[in-house]
Parts: sequence; structure tokens; C-alpha cells
Amino acid sequence: MKILIATEKPFAKIAVDGIKQVAEEAGMQICLLEKYTDKQQLLDAVADADAMIVRSDIIDAQVLDAAKQLKIVIRAGAGYDNIDLEAATAHKVCVMNTPGQNSNAVAELALGLMVYAVRNFYNGTSGTELKGKRLGIHAYGNVGRNVARIAKGFGMEIFAYDAYCPDEAMLKDNVTPLHSAEELYEKCDIVSLHIPATAETKQSINKALLSRMPKGALLVNTARKEVINEDELIELMTERQDFRYVTDIMPACHDKLAEDFKGRYFATPKKMGAQTAEANINAGIAAARQIVDFLKNGNRKFQVNK
Ligand code: 3PG
Repeated sequence: MKILIATEKPFAKIAVDGIKQVAEEAGMQICLLEKYTDKQQLLDAVADADAMIVRSDIIDAQVLDAAKQLKIVIRAGAGYDNIDLEAATAHKVCVMNTPGQNSNAVAELALGLMVYAVRNFYNGTSGTELKGKRLGIHAYGNVGRNVARIAKGFGMEIFAYDAYCPDEAMLKDNVTPLHSAEELYEKCDIVSLHIPATAETKQSINKALLSRMPKGALLVNTARKEVINEDELIELMTERQDFRYVTDIMPACHDKLAEDFKGRYFATPKKMGAQTAEANINAGIAAARQIVDFLKNGNRKFQVNK
């Protein structure tokens, strides 16, 4: 059995070594395709793979067509919007993610981006502190919960909105549950996005919602660029000189934002929330174990294309 690790943005070496060890102990073989620049390289590499581990790599119908032996794809991470689930199901390929494995890394980056923004991008001028500020966590999943845990250490007042999460889960973490996105944005000085990119959420962070935020508002995005209505974000930031946006996912309109909103906008050059040795090890090894358990025992616990 052959497992392809196809990562345009590679894992740390220590994670690749760990994946190899899990695979070899199960009598499976690893093949590595890193930093590929051409889709054809992926199409060639996947041709004889039984299983595949990817990150944000696009797995569409063309890749699945080329993968004649493929039985399982693991998205080593949380969001699986990069994988065409319908095509995978049609090809009888099981798709899984590794929920929770990289969430601390993403949460730490979210807080790092907050500090960077409120300290004026370390430009030497006087900024503000996070202590006492109202933080709104938009979606209370694995990353949202870690953001709450860390933000508590900063002394922030924490609110969350998540249509799918019961109040009790927030209350036990001393987080105040709110019951609409509108209320969250109205109440909070800083909003941290942790929603997945779905048909329902794409473009949902729009001017009407963001306009509700108080003066000096800061929006932090370590989720997906697709959830932002970028045209409306530009409109809002043009009208509101106080509004700031920091993101770990470079927007399509990055050049315009960087040019027009200097000192109020920052984007990392490459998504790096999950780019830590620890997150790579956790997600990579979980992926390898899930593959072995699926191929040997048929375990489909983390399947997302049911
Ligand atoms: C995820 O969904 O797990 C994160 O966005 C991390 O993505 P990455 O593996 O491409 O860094």
C-alpha cells in the first residue's frame, strides 16, 4: 500500500519522519511530493497511491480521476473546502480531516495577530492593550475554544456566537454566549473568525455586519478568505478610518487593501496558522494513523463525505 504525502506547503521534517514511521510499522510505503508548482506533478504522483495526505492542496475531480487506486484522502487539518467531496464520493474515495490537531497553533496565531494590530504593527507608536477589551469569537469549535482559553490569560472579556454550539459549552469556559452574529459584532471591539468556508458562510462577513462593530474595531481572520465579502470590506474601510483588518489568508484584493489602508491592514504572505512543528506532527501523525486504521480495520470515524 502506498501513501502519498502531497503538500504544496510542506510539513516540518520531524512530522514527515513521524508519518513515515507510522506507515512503515503498518507495512505501508510513503511517497513525498512537496512544494510542487504544477498540477501535473500532483496528477502524476497520485496515479498509483492508495491513500493521500494533503493540507490546503486542491483535490478536485481531475485529481480524483487520475488517482485510479485511491481509497482515502486525509486533509491533515480542519477545513476541507479544498476537496471536492461529491467527486470523491462518486469515485468511492473516503475523505477525512483531523479535527483539533492544529487548532492550538491557529489560535496562538490569532492572538499574535491581535497583539500585532493593537500595537500598530510594532511601528514604535503608542498602541492599546488586549486586557479589558471585548473579544467576539465567531464560531466556537476547536480553534474558537483555544482562542478563548488564551484570551482569558490576556484578561479579555469573551463572547461567542455559534449557531451549532450549545450555550453550555461556552458557559463552562466562562465565555458569554450570544445568539446572533449581529449581536456579537455590535458588542465586541475585536472579532476573531473561526467559521468554515461553506455555501452558507461564503461572503457572509459583509458591510452590514461589520458596520455594527464599535469605533476602533479590529477583525482578525485565521479562517478562510472566502467568508469575507471583500468589495464590501473595502467600502467599509474607506468609510471608516478606524476599522482594522488583519488576516492569515491573503485576500484576492490584497494589493488594494495594502495600498489604501496602510497601518490598518496586514496579511501574512502565506497561510501560517497551522505552520508549526507541533501542529504538523499532531495533524500528520493523526492522518497516518487514520489511514492505517481505515485500510486495515475499515474505521471511518472522521469521514466527512458521508
Ligand atoms: C486548517 O483548515 O486546518 C487550517 O486552515 C490549516 O491549513 P494548512 O494546513 O493549509 O496550513
